[in-house]
Amino acid sequence: MTQTLQDQAKSVFIKTYGCQMNVYDSERMADALSSAGYSPTGNAEGADLIVLNTCHIREKATEKIYSELGRYRPQKTRNPNLRIVVAGCVAQAEGEEIVRRQPMVDVVVGPQAYHNLPALLERAVDGKQVVDRDFPEESKFDRLPELPRGRLASSAFVTIQEGCDKFCTFCVVPYTRGAEFSRPVSQVVEEVERRLLQGVREVTLLGQNVNAYHGAGPDGSDWSLARLMERLAELPQLERIRYTTSHPKDMTEDLIEVHGSCGKLMPYLHLPVQSGSDRILKAMNRKHTAEEYCGIIERLRRARNDILLSSDFIVGFPGETERDFRETLSLVREVEFGQAYSFKYSARPGTPAAERPQVDPEEASARLRQLQDLLLEQQRAAQDAMVGQDTKVLLERRGRKPGQLVGKSEHMHAVHVDCSPDMTGTVRHVRITRSEANSLAGELLSP
Ligand code: 5AD
Ligand code: SF4
Repeated sequence: MTQTLQDQAKSVFIKTYGCQMNVYDSERMADALSSAGYSPTGNAEGADLIVLNTCHIREKATEKIYSELGRYRPQKTRNPNLRIVVAGCVAQAEGEEIVRRQPMVDVVVGPQAYHNLPALLERAVDGKQVVDRDFPEESKFDRLPELPRGRLASSAFVTIQEGCDKFCTFCVVPYTRGAEFSRPVSQVVEEVERRLLQGVREVTLLGQNVNAYHGAGPDGSDWSLARLMERLAELPQLERIRYTTSHPKDMTEDLIEVHGSCGKLMPYLHLPVQSGSDRILKAMNRKHTAEEYCGIIERLRRARNDILLSSDFIVGFPGETERDFRETLSLVREVEFGQAYSFKYSARPGTPAAERPQVDPEEASARLRQLQDLLLEQQRAAQDAMVGQDTKVLLERRGRKPGQLVGKSEHMHAVHVDCSPDMTGTVRHVRITRSEANSLAGELLSP
């Protein structure tokens, strides 16, 4: 006799790889699965269902999935009722290849189809493996997030845009996440309002190209990201707005201005540049020069002089010479980033740059170390400069020591504060007293 999924309480362990969009998607998968009787667990060992929400951006991230699957083989042998799902961008990119390489996988589901998960699990019975990589008509966004089960968060991600039409020559995103798509304004506002009811005070608007947002507004016209954020800022309980990730080409004048005019928009921006060499930027199809990037930064700083900048860099892109690399270092010196991510180029199958002559991997590693040293120095300097400043901190959770909470400053620094646990989920005035390895310490200014 076949049991339906609702017959008994079951548990699901979801492991998330990659970007914040995947964190958001994992929450929505948990929502979809809860209606099929699954409740989340932090323990893979005893779970009835394991979902790996995967990332395909670099080779390392992809290979991790296969080794992780290997780790669950003994558990699947012990418990044949264990179901295993591979979701996310590796699922989208590799589809059938995954079920071929890993017969223990029950379902492979792409990032646009995971709301079908309960139905896919129902189909994946008697050893049948099911693959769904559709971009269905009915959207995964049609259903609002569930009210929380237990854990209350003060900060939430809200995906407002997905996909990418930019086709940087190194990147798999346009293939795995598909064409650019913006959610309508009313749907975003409704989701944010719902999060506020749950106690959330900060939202981070997500999109692969979030500043290309052009969602349908209630007046029938397309709204820009700036206009959407102004609308969200009207919600009284919402205290903080952030957005990520942006493309320099879409840093429009109204968006730069809103950094100066909207007090709820936090003074922090992640704006990937990838390289400081015009030759390489062109080969990457980034559609802007190093000078144009620096011009945007200048205008942003004019709008909001304390804005802290973050970026992404790729070193060892095909054709990158020592001279190109030095131009990246000089861009970094000119801008002074408060935070950054840097990667060695990883050839991704199906992308144009993967076919080009590659840089010697030893050389690329040496450049990466050099760049990271410089970025780390700048990160330290930005963090140390906060000492003595008064800032506002959203207190999020218990800190390492008793009597301590840890939260996020306006500039995204982690801050430890001695205070009552009752203050969790509130924004407080704090004076920064110390800069430590990866965080700041501060004291409450107003009890
Ligand atoms: N190799 C290395 N880094 C990459 N990124 C994207 N694709 C690749 C690749 N093929 C980096 C970019 C991007 C970030 C999310 O990941 O810097 O901004
Ligand atoms: Fe990838 Fe470029 Fe699109 Fe960003 S803008 S998701 S790096 S193709």
